[in-house]
Amino acid sequence: MAAIFQSLGRTILAGFVILAILLLAAGNLGAVSSNHAWWAFVMRWLHVMAGVMWIGLLWYFNFVQIPSMPKIPDEQKPAIGKVIAPTALFWFRWAALATVVTGLLVASMNGYIDLALKLQRPFLAIGIGMWLALLMAFNVWFIIWPNQKKALGIVAVEAEEKAAAARMAMLTSRFNTMLSVPMLFCMVAQQNGGL
Ligand code: HEM
Repeated sequence: MAAIFQSLGRTILAGFVILAILLLAAGNLGAVSSNHAWWAFVMRWLHVMAGVMWIGLLWYFNFVQIPSMPKIPDEQKPAIGKVIAPTALFWFRWAALATVVTGLLVASMNGYIDLALKLQRPFLAIGIGMWLALLMAFNVWFIIWPNQKKALGIVAVEAEEKAAAARMAMLTSRFNTMLSVPMLFCMVAQQNGGL
């Protein structure tokens, strides 16, 4: 068991193996593989996993890292700035992209992407959720990440510009945290009677 848990890759693989065993035990695997609705469901599951990774890290930044920074002695701050934050930002921005791609595929596989993006009545909840999440993903890639590169020293800039970039990244991250509340409501509302 320890051999599995000492490796993150093997741990995640073990999760997939347990899922496969559960599906086999439920007698649910063979009959479904050619079924479009089942593949749309698989995409929905991948979408939720990517979304959890994205919003989980967004909330980590806002609930844990940002409030902890002032309490960390200056000589220890590089551990966050040079090691933890770059790794967290790597998974954060690629999870955001994966969430967008899988989310758009879910809407497309279910045949309502156009109606949802045009905010048509029966797809209003998911349409609003999609637009909120698209705005958030735009912020991640085009505001937070470029500013974080300056703030963390990945791109060299003057001290003043570095401080301004850190503030901009923080405020945009807060803006996304605010939007995550109605966005997640809309995501789960579609299956449950809409708005
Ligand atoms: C641009 C980004 C996104 C797009 C295009 C998108 C699209 C969708 C679509 C089309 C659905 C299916 C709605 C339905 O028919 O019930 C859905 C459901 C869902 N999404 Fe997203 N989404 C995005 C971002 C997110 C994010 C960031 C999260 C965070 C966790 C998330 C979590 C969920 C959840 C939990 C569901 C409900 C699944 C269910 O009820 O079975 N989505 N999303």
